[in-house]
Amino acid sequence: MKRACVTGGAGFIGSTLADRLSADGAEVNVVDNFRTGRREFVAGLLERPGTRLFEGDVLDAELMREAVRGCDWVFHLQANADVRHGLEHPLRDLEQNTIATSTVLEAMRAEGVTKIGFSSTGSVYGEPEVFPTPEDAPFPLQTSLYAASKLAGEGLIGAYAHGYEFTGLVFRFVSILGERYTHGHVFDFYRALRADPTRLRVLGDGRQEKSYLYVGDCIEAIMTAVGAHEETPGEAAVYNLGTDETVVVDDSVARIVAHMGLEPEVEHTGGKRGWKGDSPLIRLDCTKIRSLGWAPTLTIPEAIERTLDWFEANPDIVLEPEGSAS
Ligand SMILES: NC(=O)c1ccc[n+]([C@@H]2O[C@H](COP(=O)([O-])OP(=O)(O)OC[C@H]3O[C@@H](n4cnc5c(N)ncnc54)[C@H](O)[C@@H]3O)[C@@H](O)[C@H]2O)c1
Repeated sequence: MKRACVTGGAGFIGSTLADRLSADGAEVNVVDNFRTGRREFVAGLLERPGTRLFEGDVLDAELMREAVRGCDWVFHLQANADVRHGLEHPLRDLEQNTIATSTVLEAMRAEGVTKIGFSSTGSVYGEPEVFPTPEDAPFPLQTSLYAASKLAGEGLIGAYAHGYEFTGLVFRFVSILGERYTHGHVFDFYRALRADPTRLRVLGDGRQEKSYLYVGDCIEAIMTAVGAHEETPGEAAVYNLGTDETVVVDDSVARIVAHMGLEPEVEHTGGKRGWKGDSPLIRLDCTKIRSLGWAPTLTIPEAIERTLDWFEANPDIVLEPEGSAS
C-alpha cells in the first residue's frame, strides 16, 4: 500500500491505525475536524515524511476528494461514536455516520479509488437471539440510531461494491480498549471515581455482559483482512472483530476499583439495560476473521489493565473537563 486515507485519523482507533499504516511504509492522509480527535494523537505521525493532514469536515465533498486522491485504500473511521445519547439528537447519526459514509464513497468514486475499510459495530445485531453472534445472524431489529446509521453505511458499501466494483471491508467491532481510549464504560467509571472516590453510580443492574477488544488487536485484524482482500474487486465482506470472552459490568467495575485502590459504595440504577439501546449481552462469533490467521493477543482483563495504565500515564487527557478536547 503506497498511500492510504484515514478519516477520523486523529481519533482513538483512527490514529492508532494511521500510525500502523505509516510504520508499515504507507504515506497517510488524515482527515479530521478534531471534534473528539486530539492533536496529541497525530503529532508524531505528522512529523513523518508523506503524512498529510486534511483538517475539516468529512461532509465537505471537495475536501474528501482531495483527501482520497491517489490513495490505494480509504479507512473510514470517522463517525459520531456516542451511542448512548443518540435519542437526544435524532438526526446526528444519520448525518455524521450515514451521509458522511455516502460522501466518502462518492469522493472515492469521483477519484477512481475503490478499496474501503469501514468501522461498523457489533451494535448492529441489536439484541440477537444467537450467541456467539455470527455475521449472518438473522436480520436484526435495530435498537439504537447509532447502529441503524452504521448499518445503512454498510448497505451503501455493499451497493458500491456490487455496482461500481469496489472492495468493501466492513468491520463490526465490539467495544475497543487500550492506549488513546477516550470514551466508553471504563473511561466513564475511571473519571467518575477520580471525581468522587467514595461512590460510583452504575447504569442498569451491573449484570450486563460486555465484550472488549484491545486496540492493537483490532488494528492487526483490519490489516489481516486487508491482506486477504487486495485483489477482490466487487466484493463486500463483513468481519466481526472481538474476543471470545465477555465481562460482566460489575466485574470490570471491581477490576477498576482494585486497580485504583478504592472501596466506593456502588449504586445500580436498575434494569437489564443501562439505557435505551444498551445491549444486555454482546458476544460475537469471530470465526471468520480467525480463519484468516488472526487471533487476539490480550484477554479482556489484560486490555482493561492496559487502559488503566494509560489513563494513569496521561492524566491531562483523561481528566480534562468534558468537551474541551481539541
Ligand atoms: N471505540 C469503540 O469501542 C468502537 C466500537 C465500535 C465501533 N467503533 C467505530 O470506530 C470508529 C472510530 O471510533 P473511535 O472510538 O476512535 O472514536 P473517536 O471519536 O475517537 O474518533 C472519531 C474521529 O472522527 C472525527 N470526526 C468526527 N466527526 C467528524 C467529521 N464530521 N469530520 C471530520 N472528522 C470527524 C473525530 O474528531 C475523531 O477524531 C467510529 O466509526 C466508531 O463508530 C468504535
